[in-house]
Amino acid sequence: MSALAGKHIILGITGGIAAYKSAVLLRLLIKAGAEVQVVITPNGKQFITPVTLSALSGKPVISEFFTANTGEWHSHVDLGLWADAMVIAPATASSIGKMANGVADNMLITTYLSSKCPVFVAPAMDLDMMAHPSTTRNLELLRSYDNHIIEPAEGELASHLVGKGRMEEPEKIAEVLEAYFACPQPLKGLKAMVTAGPTYERIDPVRFIGNFSTGKMGYAIAESLRRQGADVVLVSGPTALPDPAGIRTVRVESACQMLEACRNEFDSSDIAVWTAAVADYAPAHPADSKIKREKAQFDSIDLVMNPDIAATFGKCRRDGQTLVGFALETDHGPENAARKLKAKNLDIVVLNSLSDPGAGFGTDTNKITIFDHLGHSAVFGLKSKAEVADDIVNYIAEYRNK
Ligand code: C5P
Repeated sequence: MSALAGKHIILGITGGIAAYKSAVLLRLLIKAGAEVQVVITPNGKQFITPVTLSALSGKPVISEFFTANTGEWHSHVDLGLWADAMVIAPATASSIGKMANGVADNMLITTYLSSKCPVFVAPAMDLDMMAHPSTTRNLELLRSYDNHIIEPAEGELASHLVGKGRMEEPEKIAEVLEAYFACPQPLKGLKAMVTAGPTYERIDPVRFIGNFSTGKMGYAIAESLRRQGADVVLVSGPTALPDPAGIRTVRVESACQMLEACRNEFDSSDIAVWTAAVADYAPAHPADSKIKREKAQFDSIDLVMNPDIAATFGKCRRDGQTLVGFALETDHGPENAARKLKAKNLDIVVLNSLSDPGAGFGTDTNKITIFDHLGHSAVFGLKSKAEVADDIVNYIAEYRNK
């Protein structure tokens, strides 16, 4: 049986010549057992008729916010929630631009903005439009929203020019969707929480004690957990990163705020990953107004120790929870990792050494060794933070099965 059987799929069609191929894609999805709702832009209807599409899908095609004669309203919100996946094929440069920038001026874009499901985008346009920096930037934005871009193929285009811009063949698009749903999701039904980023501890309203953490590793872990099916909450200190798609993100500033936010999530979580670089100390008496530059010498700032979030929850963990911490060390890495595993009552410690080139704060890569409570360990090579996140999450999934 196809992995698409019983899946609810929105097929979005925009105004490009490749729209004629959407009928074939629709036929393939229906044959695989999916239930498909076609949403077409006003321009899309210039290229393929709704009659063809409704005959193939067995459902009226939606294009406008209202049905003209009955006044019936089509709820883009309900549609967005109904869908297990949305595929926009063909996606013109114009629609890609609207999706990237939230220009919700037709039913398809409002549905896209309302959807919580994975979105697959199959661009189709002339080669120069495809190569334009604006298209490149908009596709980058869609990727950053976690949309899946099904790259167009090279070949002869409607303009008779030859180059990149041909919508991928319907058979290939159907295969991508099938592969997505066939992929095992071992963490489905589990809740995972992740702390990420630095914390800022206020000295006065304009100054703080912080650190160089960017949050990249924690965000990548949250995204990997979500890809593996978990329901993810990200408790994030101040970062420049956008909220990841499909992940509830709780923003905090200080260690104490992070601890409080974690209290609301911990008991109901099956997995907790403590990636945040929590400041160890905070000013004991933050000033209410900006401290003036008056004296030649600033004597001292009294500091108090912050709560250790990982250790706090390690003390009140329940059966069935898997707790994962990080150890960022400059020396004696394995010894320190083993010590933290015990001291914080963790199942798994991920060690990254600041002395390894390409590992640590701010880089896009990392190099880790994983140690677990059962005495096992695994060494990994230098990889992108997304790949490292997948290694960690795979390790967590396997550990839970032991
Ligand atoms: O003790 P150290 O800071 O090296 O421990 C690192 C691990 O403990 C990380 O997983 C970090 O997120 C967590 N931690 C914490 N709260 C603190 C300090 C560290 O959750 N106050």
